Amino acid sequence: MASVGYESGFRVRASGVSAAMAVAAAAASLLVSGAAFAQQAPAAAATVAPSAGNAQRGSQLAYTCYGCHGIPDYRNAYPTYHVPKLGGQHAAYIVASLTEYRNGARPHPTMRGQAMAMTDQEIRDVAAYFATQNPVKSDGNATGTAPAAAQTCVACHGTDGVGILPEYPTLSGQHRDYLEHSLRAYRRGERQNAIMQGFAQTLTDEDIAALAAYFARQTPALWTPQPPRAPEMRAKSSPAR
Ligand code: HEC
Ligand code: HEC
Repeated sequence: MASVGYESGFRVRASGVSAAMAVAAAAASLLVSGAAFAQQAPAAAATVAPSAGNAQRGSQLAYTCYGCHGIPDYRNAYPTYHVPKLGGQHAAYIVASLTEYRNGARPHPTMRGQAMAMTDQEIRDVAAYFATQNPVKSDGNATGTAPAAAQTCVACHGTDGVGILPEYPTLSGQHRDYLEHSLRAYRRGERQNAIMQGFAQTLTDEDIAALAAYFARQTPALWTPQPPRAPEMRAKSSPAR
């Protein structure tokens, strides 16, 4: 029985990462960062092999997602916070989060519904599709002074918020209110993740506000992806012939 892989094996060999990243990225430059990355972390790497995802098929599935994730100012209603930016996010993290919605580790009802309707392969495909849109790469420069509480975070999320492994989400330029929401959800234990629940426990409300503000203003930033071509949307908006 196929599994999404994030569940079945968190770590694979570094060569798998380079390969996965190579496929996930259209840009040859990403091969370079993949290689550099393999040197830094020879024994520990991502799991999910987004290489198994078909970005072409993912582009079809993504039309639904654009209904919320493609609208720059779109907000979740209760509580109110911006729908997270997916543009430039790591494929492995997109697979991980969809898997978590599906298995209930992340409770958001709409996203649970979306993920439960998807097969493992569809999750990989849609992640491969969003990830081929030029993932955010660190330029090594942080904007502003990191709050004291960021000292532990940067080991995984980078000083400028670009996750240093594919399974660590990139936070750079993510909506500030969404980052706050996520940290509070970990702290409450509502969003289940062993690593992040532990770190969030130590944070005060002030820390959370400062951390969210800091990571939200980093560049290069995540972005709100736009559908490259949306035949059915065009069909709806163009006058009947
Ligand atoms: C009705 C609006 C809506 C639709 C449609 C939707 N999403 Fe979401 N999505 C959200 C909201 C709101 C969140 C944040 C939920 C939370 O707090 O956990 C989210 C979170 C996510 C996350 C986690 C991002 C992160 O940084 O943690 C991913 C990945 C994601 N969605 C992918 C998708 C994909 C893929 C589709 C299409 C198959 C999709 N979504 C369709 C509203 C939507
Ligand atoms: C050991 C590595 C590690 C450290 C240190 C770490 N994180 Fe994380 N972080 C992760 C991983 C892995 C995830 C994805 C967890 C999941 O699937 O929910 C994550 C998720 C997050 C998210 C959710 C992003 C999203 O798109 O939903 C935020 C926000 C975050 N971390 C902020 C922080 C902050 C702030 C700190 C420091 C207090 C920190 N992290 C420390 C590994 C780490």
